[in-house]
Amino acid sequence: EAAEKGGYDWFMLKEIAEQPQAVADTLLGRLGENGELVLDEVRLSDQELRDIDKVFVVACGTAYHAGLIAKYAIEHWTRIPVEVELASEFRYRDPVLDRSTLVVVISQSGETMDTLMALRHARDQKARVLAICNANGSTIPRESDAVLYTHAGPEVAVASTKGFLTQVVACYLVGLFLAQVRGVKYADEVASIVDDLRELPAAVSQVLAGMEPVRELARSLATEDTLLFLGRHVGYPVALEGALKLKELAYIHAEGFAAGELKHGSIALIGPGTPVVVVVPSPRSRGSVHGKVVSNIQEVRARGARTIVVAEEGDDDVLPYADHLIRVPRTPTLLAPVVTTVPLQVLACEIADTRGLDVDQPRNLAKSVTVE
Ligand code: G6P
Repeated sequence: EAAEKGGYDWFMLKEIAEQPQAVADTLLGRLGENGELVLDEVRLSDQELRDIDKVFVVACGTAYHAGLIAKYAIEHWTRIPVEVELASEFRYRDPVLDRSTLVVVISQSGETMDTLMALRHARDQKARVLAICNANGSTIPRESDAVLYTHAGPEVAVASTKGFLTQVVACYLVGLFLAQVRGVKYADEVASIVDDLRELPAAVSQVLAGMEPVRELARSLATEDTLLFLGRHVGYPVALEGALKLKELAYIHAEGFAAGELKHGSIALIGPGTPVVVVVPSPRSRGSVHGKVVSNIQEVRARGARTIVVAEEGDDDVLPYADHLIRVPRTPTLLAPVVTTVPLQVLACEIADTRGLDVDQPRNLAKSVTVE
């Protein structure tokens, strides 16, 4: 087993380190010349793709968070309404589906029973089902109309890392491909985003190279009993994912919140010393959300929070309010989760390790849940 871990203490650490390659492999052969996407494996005809008038993204756990990110990207690029739903809820609430609905199911293992049941239900209603999956030949892709494999390679640690990052990237590909086939008005933007996608593996490597301060910070957080995560726009699902990782690995109470909701309730949780991780949107985000999140950092800090701020390089607005600052490379707004998630994975992994826990096999969890 030591050999399989390739010199790392945990599979999770190895899989975190493999993320630049995994992301590159998800993109491999799919980005053509002139910003064109080549997704031959999406075996739906152009006409079928043009007829789609609604998208559901359905998944469980970490894959669901990838779906939440997909909504921002797919709606923005295609103008098709997207709903994201937990598979276990979707299946039993009689969702409105028909031939012109695309259901994107996301599953690393391809064997999650809740997701499989949701997919079967969608197909029974005549919806088209596209799977985003990592495990080749698993049940979910076999039962879907089409599959986009993430090609992340085997993921052994129960908590998903490279599985998640590559799901997010695959979701971008689906959104951009739909935009391309449907010829939407964002064509220029789509072409430039394709170039930006090519930069992602290097950006993830850059984040990984700067993780020593995050590990040090993690060790100082190991005795905390609660951590809060705030984010906005695509940073909101990242906050949810950061909180989930910490719960899964370190058994510490953690919650992710939409930063704009802080004032509607969760700010009451903040007391002296409460650690609050804030995922700051790019200063180039639409609708001044950056400034609003900076105000949120200020607000929680004024109430005693210890602020841990994940912000883009060059974003100096956060400096006065960050007790700890984690820098990520400048990335287009919608693609930012691919870089901002990484330090939160490292944080959770290192906190769990410091607490003496089994990072790869957390208590009560299974890598693939094959019961409903
Ligand atoms: C399990 C794992 C999670 C994972 C979820 C969905 O609960 O512990 O890490 O996110 O299943 O798995 P899937 O294979 O469908 O992506």
